[in-house]
Amino acid sequence: MRKLLLLALAAVALTASAQPPSSLKDAYKDLFMMGVAVNQRNITDSAQSALVVREFSSMTAENDMKPASVHPRPDTWTWERADRIADFCRHHGIKLRGHTLMWHNQMCDWMFYDADHRFVSKDTLFQRMRQHIHTVVNRYKDIVYCWDVFNECIADGPRRLDADGHDQPLRESKFYQICHSDEFIRKAFEYAREADPDALLFYNDYNECDPVKCDRICTMIRSMKADGVPIDGIGMQGHYNIYGPSEADIENAVSRYADIVDHIHMTELDIRVNREMGGQLQHSDNAGATLTDTLLRRQQAQYAAVFRVMRRHADKVDCVTFWNLSDRDSWLGPDNYPLLFDRNYQPKPVYHTVRDFE
Ligand code: XIL
Repeated sequence: MRKLLLLALAAVALTASAQPPSSLKDAYKDLFMMGVAVNQRNITDSAQSALVVREFSSMTAENDMKPASVHPRPDTWTWERADRIADFCRHHGIKLRGHTLMWHNQMCDWMFYDADHRFVSKDTLFQRMRQHIHTVVNRYKDIVYCWDVFNECIADGPRRLDADGHDQPLRESKFYQICHSDEFIRKAFEYAREADPDALLFYNDYNECDPVKCDRICTMIRSMKADGVPIDGIGMQGHYNIYGPSEADIENAVSRYADIVDHIHMTELDIRVNREMGGQLQHSDNAGATLTDTLLRRQQAQYAAVFRVMRRHADKVDCVTFWNLSDRDSWLGPDNYPLLFDRNYQPKPVYHTVRDFE
């Protein structure tokens, strides 16, 4: 009788283990965290926030922690929306990725100018950056486990030379125009480390699997780390499309980053059904496009490829974050169909591709 009971129990256990995992975070719990970028609706609407809590173990504020959002004027700090996200994470025990301390977009433009609208000196800029970074990092120290310290500093496109004939891989941002070197990036990491010695500090960029850009990122991070700049990780944004990058290019980029840093995050994953990719909305939001079976299958194949690479590198990959919760929320517009949940917040077939991997 006892034996029968044990057998029955074993059978129940077997059936239970054959069940697919109940959520993304559960499916990947032994590999890395699964994250999502959220807007205010996602954390206030009860159905949406239940979905966030059910599926994800890490969160990023889509816009609400960016410099322009929290620090629009020198003496004005607007914390309400960022605080709401931080409180949501505290309440639900979800980890919070900080995004982003410095960026050329959605930046506090006032930081670059004096009262006569001329560029400030490098020292004034550094002072303002330091004050901003210290204030933000200190406020969320208890809940933010890592920060994108600088976002998108490397230029796309062909090789350029500076006035002295040296290779100039940096974007011609206002930071660069004021500093004429990469010192602003180094400083930002130092200030972030001063403010929180425990947070993991990331450099984050897009088109990061493009071999030329990957090369530039590797060269820059390697040289900074050799000089003792406190960089812990590389954020691969992951704004891809169904045609690229290839699995080989993703694999190659992750392997190269893994040679330089111990922490890799995919920070902004979405897969468009057209040919655009990267950090900008280029030509369209794909309005009116229908999702044919062929496009759907390609998207499933591309998601499968991304996660195969991430799983192969789970020793260095700590987190994969989707850029938005559902197609309805996507910064690319719903007609790009880039995410795992549809505009009614229902899982799409591609959700199962990602969750129920073999
Ligand atoms: C995007 C947001 O999703 C949009 O709502 C906003 O209008 C512009 O910024 N790379 C990044 C993100 O690092 O911060 C960007 O987010 C998308 C590209």
